[in-house]
Amino acid sequence: GGALGTRVLREAAAPPPPGTAAAAETVPAAGGSGSLAGFGGESLPCHGAHQAGIVTAPAAHVVHSAFALRAATDAAALRRMFRVLTDDVEGLTSGNGPLADPEVELAARPARLTVTVGVGPELVSRTGAARPAWLAPLPAFERDHLGSGFDGGDLLVTLQADDPLPIAHAMRMIGRDLAGFAEPLWTQRGFRQARGAEADGTTMRNLMGQVDGTVNPSPADGEDFDDLVWLGPEAGWLAGGSAFVLRRIRMELATWDAVDRPGREQTIGRRLSDGSPLSAPSETATESTPADFSATDERGLSRIPMAAHIRRAHSTDPAERVFRRAANYDEGGESGLLFGCYQRDPLRQFVPIQRRLDEADLLNEWVTHVGSAVFAILPGFERGTLLGDPLFE
Ligand code: HEM
Repeated sequence: GGALGTRVLREAAAPPPPGTAAAAETVPAAGGSGSLAGFGGESLPCHGAHQAGIVTAPAAHVVHSAFALRAATDAAALRRMFRVLTDDVEGLTSGNGPLADPEVELAARPARLTVTVGVGPELVSRTGAARPAWLAPLPAFERDHLGSGFDGGDLLVTLQADDPLPIAHAMRMIGRDLAGFAEPLWTQRGFRQARGAEADGTTMRNLMGQVDGTVNPSPADGEDFDDLVWLGPEAGWLAGGSAFVLRRIRMELATWDAVDRPGREQTIGRRLSDGSPLSAPSETATESTPADFSATDERGLSRIPMAAHIRRAHSTDPAERVFRRAANYDEGGESGLLFGCYQRDPLRQFVPIQRRLDEADLLNEWVTHVGSAVFAILPGFERGTLLGDPLFE
């Protein structure tokens, strides 16, 4: 609570407090140390209609790793690859460790580790499965500065956990097991605040200081969410999967420093203190107050500027919305946002939104898209079946 409290609204369910009925979602890890104090022993189920790590409450750390297939990796090899990968996902997320894990102790406390796997166009064509039109590089945007080594890829492995240690371990195990099939292409590391630094479910802050993630579809919206995010039966091998867009967006924090507080708030259209919209008075508005894009001040000027980020990003067509899941990055002297979003069809959802931003968004003066990738997120799998199986049916 309080002026600085940015309680959340529309995030995916936060980890439930222990002792509640819903706590069954998180189970003690199999490594045997689940009874130790701390959240390291919590494990999330990797099985289900959808892969874990998409609507799961965001973890403190995320690593997106893309791989390029070796020339010899044909359909038969890909089947072997998914078998190994499935065993890794089950072993690493449960706390048991994958087969032949030389450091099984590092797997014992997964801290809600999830592994989410996506495939690029080249992998799909090697299996002979149908490639959806959107599974291709995105159309170019005027302001893009891609080409710094974070574009595309044949296979995506996204690891998330509340502790960087199980992530590093999982990266090494998966990298080792994939080595015969693919080579590393790029790795992007992101973070939110450490678990415990804020109440669970608090909307994250990005490195420009803004409350980021307020207006976002929620799995609690039921069918509406399903239609936006999950592919249906008409998608064949992708039924139950999703389309993932990952944009690496650099922030120019040195010049952003020169902008005063009102200027910063107008750039977005929301207040820095609590993320409330500028259309409503600060005394009564909260983060959850809906933005009123028609509100004007005494002089008749729009309270939310015409080129404010939320006005340009806002979709009047409800079917155009995306499910955002971002993280901060700060490495090699560069800061920014790993902007990730899930949807059914990026050409119908991400692209029109990004076109409006690219054309005119006050934020453009301080942000540049430097990496871009699109992956088909595989449908979920059950015990006894393999991740990626539907690709070969
Ligand atoms: C809203 C920051 C890039 C789509 C917001 C908000 C902030 C923000 C602070 C207001 C709070 C909220 O509702 O989350 C940023 C920053 C970016 C960035 C710093 C780049 C570094 C993008 C991109 C897209 C996007 C690339 C999609 C193409 C949206 C949408 C909203 C939003 C859809 C909600 C608009 C509404 O109120 O309906 N963003 N954003 N943002 N942003 Fe961004």
